[in-house]
Amino acid sequence: MTWLITGGAGYIGAHVARVMAGAGERVVALDDLTAGVPARLSADVPLTEGSTLDAGVLKRVFAEHEVTGVVHLAARKQVGESVAQPTRYYRENVGGLATLLEAVAEAGIGRFVFSSSAAVYGNPDVDLITEDTPCAPVNPYGETKLAGEWLVRAAGRAHGISTVCLRYFNVAGAAAPELADTGVFNIVPMVFDRLTRDEAPRIFGDDYPTPDGTCVRDYIHVADLAEAHLAAARRLGQDAGTGDLTVNIGRGEGVSVRELVTLIGEITGDARPAVVEGRRPGDAPRAVASAALAERELGWTARRGVRETVESAWQGWLLHHGGRAADRTTTGRTTG
Ligand SMILES: NC(=O)c1ccc[n+]([C@@H]2O[C@H](COP(=O)([O-])OP(=O)(O)OC[C@H]3O[C@@H](n4cnc5c(N)ncnc54)[C@H](O)[C@@H]3O)[C@@H](O)[C@H]2O)c1
Repeated sequence: MTWLITGGAGYIGAHVARVMAGAGERVVALDDLTAGVPARLSADVPLTEGSTLDAGVLKRVFAEHEVTGVVHLAARKQVGESVAQPTRYYRENVGGLATLLEAVAEAGIGRFVFSSSAAVYGNPDVDLITEDTPCAPVNPYGETKLAGEWLVRAAGRAHGISTVCLRYFNVAGAAAPELADTGVFNIVPMVFDRLTRDEAPRIFGDDYPTPDGTCVRDYIHVADLAEAHLAAARRLGQDAGTGDLTVNIGRGEGVSVRELVTLIGEITGDARPAVVEGRRPGDAPRAVASAALAERELGWTARRGVRETVESAWQGWLLHHGGRAADRTTTGRTTG
C-alpha cells in the first residue's frame, strides 16, 4: 500500500508521515506549503508541492506513486480567521475535500482517513463527549469539519471507499523539537509566548461551573494522535470496502486551564501568577472526549501524559523561538 498524506508538511501531518513511515508503510506527501515546512519530512517521504483544489496534480500524484489510500489533513485551521473569511474556509476545506474525493473515486482508491475536530460538537453540556453527542459547531471552521465528515461518508457510500473520520481534541507537543507547531493559536504556545515576552499568562474566566472555575480540556500529545492515524490506516488496510467509522481522539481526561498554566510554570521554570480576565465568547466550560470507541474500534489509546506533552512542546518552543526564552529558563531553574 502507498498512503498519500495531504498537509504532510504541516505540524500534525509531518508526525503522521513519520509514524506511518516508521511502521513500514509507504508514504508520500502533498502540501501547498502555505503553512507547511518541507524540512519536517524525512528523505524517505517524497513531497509534492500542490493543492487539494488542483485535480490535475492529484491525478498525477496518485498515478506516479500508485497511491492506494489517503490521509487527508490539509486544511485551514484558525477559528478566528474562519469567522472573518468563511467563504475561503468553505472553499478550501470543503471544496478542496470535494476535489480530492472526486480524484480518489476516479483513481479507484478505496481507503480514506479524514482529520476532523472536536469543533464539530460546539459546546455540549456533557461530562464526556461521545461520538453520539449531537454536533452543533459554533464557528465556520467547525462547520467545515462537520460538512467534511458528511461529504466523506457520502462519497464513501457512493464510491465504495472505506473511511475513518478522526475527531481530534486539543493537540499539543512534539515527537521531536523540529516537528513542533510554530503557530501561536492554541493555549500551550500562547502561554509560552506570554512568558517569552516577560508577561503573565492570561486565564479567560475563572467563574465557570468547573472544580477550579477555569475551562477544562482534553490535551493529547501529537505523537499519540499520529499513532491513531496509523491504527486507522491499518484498520482500513484490512477492511477496504466495508463502511465508515467516526471516532474521538482524546485522552478522556480533563485538565483545567489553571492546572495547565501551573504545569507550564513548573516546566519552564517561570511560575509567575496568571492574570484572570473576562470570559471569551464561545468557550465551553468543559470539552473532554470519551475515548472508549477509539480503543474498541482502533485498538488505540493515548500513552503519553500531559506533563510529557507540555515538556515536548517547550523543547520545540525553545528551538523555534530561541534565545531569550532559553536564557530565562536557565535562570528560572537556577534560582528555583
Ligand atoms: N492542531 C490542532 O489542534 C487541530 C485540532 C483538530 C483538528 N486539526 C486538523 O488537523 C489538520 C492538520 O492541522 P495542523 O495543526 O497540522 O495544521 P497545519 O497548518 O500545520 O497543517 C496543515 C497543512 O496543510 C497544508 N494545506 C492547507 N491547505 C492546503 C490545500 N488546500 N492543499 C494542500 N495543502 C494544504 C498547509 O500548508 C499545512 O502544511 C487540519 O485539517 C486541522 O483542521 C488540528
